[in-house]
Amino acid sequence: MRESSHLGATVTPFAGAGQRLAVTGPPHSGGAARHDEAHDAGAARDAKAAPEFERTLLYVARTPDPLLGAYLKSRGWELATARTAHEASRLVKPEAAYAGIVDLTGFAPREFTGLETILRLQQVGWIALTDNSRLADPEVRRLIRHYCFDYVHVPVAHPTLDYLVGHAFGMVSLCDLDTPATPASQDEDEMVGTCEAMQQLFRTIRKVANTDATVFISGESGTGKELTALAIHERSPRRKAPFVPINCGAIPHHLLQSELFGYERGAFTGANQRKIGRVESANGGTLFLDEIGDLPMESQASLLRFLQEGKIERLGGHEQIPVDVRIISATHVDLESAMRDGRFRADLFHRLCVLRVDEPPLRARGKDIEILAHHVLHKFKMDSARKIRGFTPDAIEAMYNYNWPGNVRELINRVRRAIVMAESKLISAEDLDLAHFTAQQTVTLAQAREAAERRAIEAALLRHRHRLTEAAADLGISRVTLYRLMGTHGLRDEKTIFGGEAENQAEPPPDVPPDTPE
Ligand SMILES: Nc1ncnc2c1ncn2[C@@H]1O[C@H](COP(=O)(O)OP(=O)(O)OP(=O)(O)O)[C@@H](O)[C@H]1O
Ligand SMILES: [Mg+2]
Repeated sequence: MRESSHLGATVTPFAGAGQRLAVTGPPHSGGAARHDEAHDAGAARDAKAAPEFERTLLYVARTPDPLLGAYLKSRGWELATARTAHEASRLVKPEAAYAGIVDLTGFAPREFTGLETILRLQQVGWIALTDNSRLADPEVRRLIRHYCFDYVHVPVAHPTLDYLVGHAFGMVSLCDLDTPATPASQDEDEMVGTCEAMQQLFRTIRKVANTDATVFISGESGTGKELTALAIHERSPRRKAPFVPINCGAIPHHLLQSELFGYERGAFTGANQRKIGRVESANGGTLFLDEIGDLPMESQASLLRFLQEGKIERLGGHEQIPVDVRIISATHVDLESAMRDGRFRADLFHRLCVLRVDEPPLRARGKDIEILAHHVLHKFKMDSARKIRGFTPDAIEAMYNYNWPGNVRELINRVRRAIVMAESKLISAEDLDLAHFTAQQTVTLAQAREAAERRAIEAALLRHRHRLTEAAADLGISRVTLYRLMGTHGLRDEKTIFGGEAENQAEPPPDVPPDTPE
């Protein structure tokens, strides 16, 4: 999913690649039973058909099953077996795509941290082998949920496993195929990110897109929650159906019920015709409930009922209408404390948060701050008549020092404003309004004296509305000396001091004519 971009850095144009990735449809999730049915082999078949693919399979197990190994080899897999996570990590080549089998039944819980390191490798499509006792362990469930395409109970029929790894390999290979073909698009929905936290986010998006489970996105304001919800939808099998966002905080409480569920004609005064609610209009697609923390209790109860029954009832109607939507919700408030305070129903939260996605704040994205700034500059540089080429070193430094409380949205706004305001070809910290966030430069004593002298003269001139006699008296120097120093510091143009709005004109110095060279 990576590519070298116009920025000279690594950028992931996430949404663009998503369209193509989802074409073969999702791998089927869940237990082994369903996999014995005759599925369309989808990606697995594609992978076999493409001769340029070497089908590589990493098999990680404390005690590898030699019969399984032999079977998989007979099915054309290039098999690499590892008994530990460390061994496995040495077998993986950075540029290659792999299917992976991780047998979780043989590993002790203390080994999970090591396993997580290899499960995170994004070029491996993992299938987990497990049993009921392992699945009771929340850590095992988390590892499967976060990193695996699928899991099966042992013992598993070898052909089933062959099918599953084929599918996982196909999906991972398609990611690779997309890379060179995807241009750094100017798409509105492009999602930029190269740091580990963002790569992790992209992997999570890819995985959650393949299920129908509810997703809860948590993150500070402006981190990209809506963009993430859209990315999930666009890579899900529902992508051709509507993505319907609703901001629960922006709609007055008394209108929310009818907005969500619609109403029948005559349901209340003014209901002259039937209105389809947002939930129903998302049928077949995805409903994005933004600022879910602001959902009033009444709507929380109705939403919970809908989640339990999969049916809605329009206001004033008696019919139960089945609606098939995938729910994604988001908030920037702390829902845990809202639940403690009794403002949010815990049972609803658990329904909404089957899968959880955490958006990293911008300040935790390292180099991505700079990459995003360049990305925004590239996108909006036409807003300026000047040919803006980039950022000054102090602008870059300030961007790293600043805390970005408004995250990506704030960065976009600051850079766009700077593009308009900049007076040179490079955007400075000042253009970004971040001048305070540049580190103190080292200065010589002479520079410090000069700066202090200039500040003192400026202040005196301001205090005395540019009346030189009084300003000079304040500074304890003669008018002539003051006039000379003003020349040295480039302060003779009163506009510099009064911003062109001086009430009093500067008195000409009687003893030194203005145009007298010093
Ligand atoms: N990784 C990213 N790459 C490029 N643009 C991004 C990224 N993340 C967010 N943006 C942009 O930042 C802006 C804010 O994103 P979004 O609306 O998704 O954030 P949010 O978390 O929903 O914000 P809020 O909490 O204020 O509703 C949008 O213009 C979005 O396109
Ligand atoms: Mg939002």
